[in-house]
Amino acid sequence: MNSFPSLLESINDLNKSQIDGLISLANKFKHRESESSLFTYRRPIIATSFLENSTRTKHSFAIAIQKMGAIYIDFNAETSSLKKGESLEETFLTLFNQGVNLCIFRSNISNQLAQFKESPPLKIINGGDGINEHPTQALLDLFTLLEHTPDLQGKTLAIFGDNIHSRVGHSLIKLLPQFGMKIILCGPEHFLPKKQDLPPNIELSNNRDDTLLKCDFIYLLRIQKERHDSVEVPLKYQENFDYLETFGVTLSKLKNLQKFIPVFHPGPANIGVEIDSALIKSSLYNGYLQVQNSIPVRMAIIQSMLVNNDKNIGNIHGEKF
Ligand code: CP
Repeated sequence: MNSFPSLLESINDLNKSQIDGLISLANKFKHRESESSLFTYRRPIIATSFLENSTRTKHSFAIAIQKMGAIYIDFNAETSSLKKGESLEETFLTLFNQGVNLCIFRSNISNQLAQFKESPPLKIINGGDGINEHPTQALLDLFTLLEHTPDLQGKTLAIFGDNIHSRVGHSLIKLLPQFGMKIILCGPEHFLPKKQDLPPNIELSNNRDDTLLKCDFIYLLRIQKERHDSVEVPLKYQENFDYLETFGVTLSKLKNLQKFIPVFHPGPANIGVEIDSALIKSSLYNGYLQVQNSIPVRMAIIQSMLVNNDKNIGNIHGEKF
């Protein structure tokens, strides 16, 4: 796997052979053919820095780091010098000079990591940035889809719900077509992006039942109220009024349509809004399998980035005296 990036901000930072390599390595980690082989000589130091709430992403990275035998630091932004006005770049350079090899970073600001594209102060993995992207969630979703169906060519995944605010949705539409998948984004008008803002061949729909009949996999999103400042959302959707009946997916709806297909959810799920409790407890639901797979997939991403041999990390490109 050549030139694995030192900053994984977007799915577009990876090429297809790097993605294939990650899936293959994650399979090895999952089936325990390989675990801490990297760190027999010197233990790397890996930090998480989550400036926005998380249950799944932060903890699965923390578990992945510790399973691999690396030293884990939980950088607490609230009690850090970021609160004294230190810039993010200075913060990353400080971590680098303390010996931190990699940081997993989450923020509610979209594209906050783009400033480091040319010259990363530290190896960085985007753990979700605003409404931009959540590449590691999309990669673990791909891994879970491939476990179900090793050849995804021609299969259709329908993403239901608040597509416009979903960073994982934005990563999935860049990732899954590379495996031959068709994508339908379904939801009320306010939660759908404009056709011209999408890659080609992504279908849009306001018709839940019609979309359910067309798809091979269901991917549900919660309504992401904390990100609704970028678009005007009608009050009835802010209050989740009627949403389950009109755009949510329930077990009884799938039974009525005779549609017994896998259901995915990145979490957190809002039961009674986009999904009902009967569906989340049913064997169609894959949310917990996605959580299980998050650990080997994130181990694979960490390992691939740590061994990329990038010598330019932490370099300061100012004048020399
Ligand atoms: N899927 C996901 O990003 O969940 P958390 O917000 O709990 O990390």
